Amino acid sequence: MKEYIVTIVGGASSYTPGIVRSLMNRRERLPLKKLVLQDVDSEKLELMVNYLSILFQDEEYDAQVHWTTDREESFRGADFIFTQIRTGGLEMREMDEKISLEHGLVGQETCGPGGFAFAMRTIREMVEITRDAQRIAPEAWIINYSNPLPILAEAVRREVPHSRSLFICDMPIVQELAMAATLDYKHRDLTFEYFGLNHFGWYTSIKNSEGEELLPKLREILLSGEEMKMVDFGHLDQSWITTFNNIREGVKAFPEYIPLTYIQYYYFPERIVKKYNPDYTRANEVMDGRRKRIYEECKKVVSAGTTQGIEHTLDAHGDFIVDQAVAVAHNTGERFMVNVVNNGTFPNLDDDMVIETFGRIDAHGARASKKFEVPPFYRAFIYSQNTYEKLTVDACMEGSYNKALQALTLNPTIPSVDKAREILDALIEVNGDYFPVLK
Ligand code: G6P
Ligand code: MN
Repeated sequence: MKEYIVTIVGGASSYTPGIVRSLMNRRERLPLKKLVLQDVDSEKLELMVNYLSILFQDEEYDAQVHWTTDREESFRGADFIFTQIRTGGLEMREMDEKISLEHGLVGQETCGPGGFAFAMRTIREMVEITRDAQRIAPEAWIINYSNPLPILAEAVRREVPHSRSLFICDMPIVQELAMAATLDYKHRDLTFEYFGLNHFGWYTSIKNSEGEELLPKLREILLSGEEMKMVDFGHLDQSWITTFNNIREGVKAFPEYIPLTYIQYYYFPERIVKKYNPDYTRANEVMDGRRKRIYEECKKVVSAGTTQGIEHTLDAHGDFIVDQAVAVAHNTGERFMVNVVNNGTFPNLDDDMVIETFGRIDAHGARASKKFEVPPFYRAFIYSQNTYEKLTVDACMEGSYNKALQALTLNPTIPSVDKAREILDALIEVNGDYFPVLK
């Protein structure tokens, strides 16, 4: 059986141990010859590789593990390139969130002005990574976990035609697990339908194996005030629980579909601003929580020389990316949520729009399964969000202040040109060289 070489770009991230554990759990389906971790932070890379070497030994997992800061070197011979980059780190995420809130706007990682700033820092790097992968490892599939995913997917679509890229998000799966639990079903016994963009969409149907439509039942449960049943997939901090329960507010507003969690930022920006603490944001929670915990676990293992007796945090986030690699490697055609170019899937939206919907993944990549005519309200909403995304890519690639201002003006979380200009100027100042020069 073929043995694979997997490269993780952003390999020093605290998500790496979870992804590697998922690779180990799927060793039968995806036997690994070599794992390469690439990142800019050599100290953390070394820690990660030392930790993984001990883990591999303890678990009798005989893959080699290497680290490098050199992207070219990390791509040579790769079959899969997983990307999870965060240009500027959680420290810049913190700035994005806090500055937005200071200006009375949604302070969030991927939505609103925070997502815009994250995109401006990341777009060019993502394009370079994809170009390098195409040149150095033309057979490799790039599976992207990097955010803001829809904007990066749009940039790659335009700038690197025919790249072998998949764009994956764990949010829908986590929400589906919670919805299934709330309905008292197993996730695998339900079939969901969804339309929209990444971090911006709606569920239109939830059917059980007998074909019974359960969406009305879920709506009823939510509207009765009952809490969502959460499932442990790394979203159990109080802020995430609140976000999940806000799905109810979205259903109260427009009951026909079940909105994705992230819709709260677009339906209720003022409520979010009012509730969020501008001195301690989600970035702080992650820095003090997940990030700290994972690196401490790695350090403990390295100093003990064994994983025995040291608890590790399980993180199913890794399973989702490895499952897609397995689907490609074995040409399975399994059903996943996919991010693909529209090409008629939503016939009343532009063909070149990157959309999120259910589809299949096989050796040729991802394709959408079902056509869906988007109703007028949702269509207009999607257009403003998608045009914001496209203008953000324009602004970054052309270095255009005007396009950046138009992007932010269209973003559904920002109420006016004045606010858009105010936050744009603040973000430009704090981001310095992370941003392209905007003229
Ligand atoms: C969800 C989204 C990811 C996002 C993450 C942030 O899982 O799908 O795209 O990066 O949330 O989670 P965090 O715990 O860092 O706030
Ligand atoms: Mn996501």
